[in-house]
Amino acid sequence: MVRIAVFASGRGSNFSAIARAVKSGRIKASLTLLVCDTAGAGVLAKAKRAAVKTVLVKREDFPAKKDFEAQIIRHLEEEKIDLIAMAGFMRILSPEFVGRFKDKIINIHPALLPAFKGGHAIKDAFDYGVKVTGVTVHFVDEKMDHGPIILQEEVEIKQGDTLESLEERIHKIEHKLYPKAISLFIEGKLKIEGRKVK
Ligand code: GAR
Repeated sequence: MVRIAVFASGRGSNFSAIARAVKSGRIKASLTLLVCDTAGAGVLAKAKRAAVKTVLVKREDFPAKKDFEAQIIRHLEEEKIDLIAMAGFMRILSPEFVGRFKDKIINIHPALLPAFKGGHAIKDAFDYGVKVTGVTVHFVDEKMDHGPIILQEEVEIKQGDTLESLEERIHKIEHKLYPKAISLFIEGKLKIEGRKVK
């Protein structure tokens, strides 16, 4: 059984979507661990409710990024994690970390990459005035919001949309698309440059 760790720092709606999909059997895996770097983040309470083991690893508790990541790696190894799903974990992983879990880290981003990378993608797309934006799930490399794309779905920005109404539609798509991408990984259906992963 594939053992998943979700990395999240925020409110955790994608964590909950993954947890629901695991519980209902749509994702045939174990949601083994939540790694969070932010005390008080909403995702912590959601993990507690879902009875998912949680570790809080704060960057400021470590002298260097490599020590912070080493602590996370210790937790991942202890729990024999096979897949890392980043869901609003607002950090760029080092090349060493990415190399250690090659082809086993995926991320969700609320825009059609490579457009609107970063931490405010929905607002950036809305403010720019694009007519179409969307959601991307991709493999993670050492660059921000970058790496081979797994799934994308577009979301139209309609006349009369507010930032809030757009955010709501995008999150709804995220909660559907992320479990789907994770299932594809688990079923061994994903390839990177023609090479099978998993
Ligand atoms: C999600 O919209 C995710 O796509 C985004 O953070 C949000 C986390 O929400 N990630 C990025 O912007 C990555 N650059 P959640 O805590 O409710 O899942």
